[in-house]
Amino acid sequence: MSDTMGYGTFEAAAAKSAAIEADLPLHPERYRVLTGDRPTGRLHIGHLFGSLQNRVRLANLGVTTYIVIADYQVLTDRETFEAIAENTRELTIDYLAVGIKPSERVHIFPHSHVPELNQLLLPFLTLVTNAELNRNPTVKEEIAASGMRNITAGMYTYPVHQAADILFCKGNTVPVGKDQLPHLELTRVIARRFNERFAAGVPVFPEPQALLSAAPTLLGLDGNQKMSKSRGNAIMLCATADETAALIKKAKTDADRNIAYDPEKRPEVSNLLLIASLCTGEKPADIAARIGDQGAGALKRTVTETLNEFLRPIRAERARLEADPAYIRSVLLSGIESARAVAIDTLREVRAAMHMEL
Ligand code: TRP
Repeated sequence: MSDTMGYGTFEAAAAKSAAIEADLPLHPERYRVLTGDRPTGRLHIGHLFGSLQNRVRLANLGVTTYIVIADYQVLTDRETFEAIAENTRELTIDYLAVGIKPSERVHIFPHSHVPELNQLLLPFLTLVTNAELNRNPTVKEEIAASGMRNITAGMYTYPVHQAADILFCKGNTVPVGKDQLPHLELTRVIARRFNERFAAGVPVFPEPQALLSAAPTLLGLDGNQKMSKSRGNAIMLCATADETAALIKKAKTDADRNIAYDPEKRPEVSNLLLIASLCTGEKPADIAARIGDQGAGALKRTVTETLNEFLRPIRAERARLEADPAYIRSVLLSGIESARAVAIDTLREVRAAMHMEL
């Protein structure tokens, strides 16, 4: 196996993403979207504005969408697994509450329940070198951040498993953030090498492209790092209106009473303005102009009211779904059924290409 793979540039990925974005509304039938999350807990407003709304938009354009709940992937970076099924249910509730509607075109499923998807891992592992896996920048960062001393093979190989997540349904478009670009580059390399090595002439797999989110990344309420549940700086979709008010009240701001949108110099205040803006569609600077020199207290009242108003229907739907576990289960079971149907077909093609069919 040659070891020729580079992990690509952001500029190249951004240009391809822009081209897909322009074509999507014109030819939704050409796209098959595969997205996913690790079931590690409930989702927050950073997920809502960063990726969930985009999934709803793509589904509404009529694009076939598979949403993989990557439960095996949870095992790569943490030792607890007792809560995986519960987190899978909660994640599904968050998806449904924000308006992702399961249908014959939209499928939500945990990948551990799709054996034929998982089986793709075996041939795929023979298509990449150890050195290539060791060079993956996202995996390197995760290892550094985890402080782990003994790194499992699962950590180095999960991007190959992620390629199976994407390729089992021949996904050609993957909405992701920048950190996932190396995994997508690896997925393309696997698809290309599979096609060249086993499927001369009749490619089995597409080479999937990233769809980079246009939404700005929200900072946490501490104002200096990304919003994330584990950093305790997030507003969860499932929080109550009072909890949300209390969190925003404690949010970091600055000493200048005049409220203005200036992400460089005033990140905390600007982030709060951005949250309000994402809820109303108004420009952050216009919201700031209305508040003027009424100070951080007034800004926080505005953000609290706007956000709670925006989340009200989502939270009501969440509560309704929480009370209906049988429905959540049925959504996952039918997602698994449709994912398996495609995975069985793909695995059959893969075996035929590899001369393994009897
Ligand atoms: N690695 C992704 C994350 O941590 C989750 C994921 C698993 C994923 N499989 C995927 C994302 C397939 C896109 C496509 O967020």
